[in-house]
Amino acid sequence: MESQKEETIQIYRGWTEFSKKEVSEKLDFFSNKERLFDIIFAQQFDRAFLNFMCHLANQIRLLSKTKSGANKLSQLLSHKRAMLYFVQPSTRTFISFLNACHILGMKISEIRGTTTSSEVKGESPEDTIRTFSSYVDLIIVRHPVAGFAEKTAWVLNQTERPVSIINGGSGPDQHPTQALLDIYTLERSFERIGGLDGKKIAMVGDLKRGRTVRSLSYLMKNYKDVTLYFVSPKVFKMKDDIKGFLKKHHIEFLETEDFDSVKPLVDAIYMTRIQKEYSETPSKEADIYPEFHFTKKDLARIQSHCIIMHPLPRRYEIEVDVDNDPRAVYWRQERNGMWIRAALIAYLFCVDSVIAREFC
Ligand code: CP
Repeated sequence: MESQKEETIQIYRGWTEFSKKEVSEKLDFFSNKERLFDIIFAQQFDRAFLNFMCHLANQIRLLSKTKSGANKLSQLLSHKRAMLYFVQPSTRTFISFLNACHILGMKISEIRGTTTSSEVKGESPEDTIRTFSSYVDLIIVRHPVAGFAEKTAWVLNQTERPVSIINGGSGPDQHPTQALLDIYTLERSFERIGGLDGKKIAMVGDLKRGRTVRSLSYLMKNYKDVTLYFVSPKVFKMKDDIKGFLKKHHIEFLETEDFDSVKPLVDAIYMTRIQKEYSETPSKEADIYPEFHFTKKDLARIQSHCIIMHPLPRRYEIEVDVDNDPRAVYWRQERNGMWIRAALIAYLFCVDSVIAREFC
């Protein structure tokens, strides 16, 4: 089926004014009675919420280990339905949300491309999302356009049937639930050495267009004495908006192109891929940026407790020879995504207290 070239553009009065506000001024609009209602920005999460999510994810993980625990979890939301609208490619976010919904017993619908929905006929994405809200109780969105999840949540919150929207990645902008699973991974990994407070974290690669490092950077305001090392080629330096945010919140950060000098200093190395999908002139990153790759040789240069993370998918940034080192946590990190996303959904539907009762 051919895709319609001309999308219907609809004018929503008030949206332009709202969209121009600072994120801090928008947060109340995505909450309901002191609880988060839509998950759009990483800036929505404070320390208490992050601690609570990690605790709840641990509880869900423990309950899931036994048949009786898993059965209890699967009854919690068996009366609820979720829509996974993923019109930008995804493996982990899609599958982990799908399985998070399954853990809690939710029924799932999915659309994974605009060529099989009525967007082919020119229906606007906003009307498409509003249509989902007629059928389901939760919409999880992965979209190539920055701000798309925010706009659709804004639209839905003014209808008679608002349902929660979770941003599963919006263009090069934000990936708040990836940031949640990254925090969960960091906190679990540093459980015996004081947690994330006081740690040094290197973020490496395409920091300009990598939404995961952007969202994770926002969350650092919740932790004490964290230092960030932004390691990237000049063309992929972290953008000024994030650096401005870090300065405002007195979070120390350094920028460098010298990855080698940073390796022995840090407690975590967060590798990222060159986001070629946003390039106008795609290049062969395998050949061009080897100094920003992590190889087996580097294992000898990092601290014994230093963890190696990656949001995945990877290209050439980490050699497969690194995978079996106990400090390589990226496979555990992606699995953590399922637990923390289940925790987030349980929270949104207010069944976290039912889960907590299992541990009384
Ligand atoms: N980390 C992440 O968002 O992976 P996917 O693109 O595969 O969902």
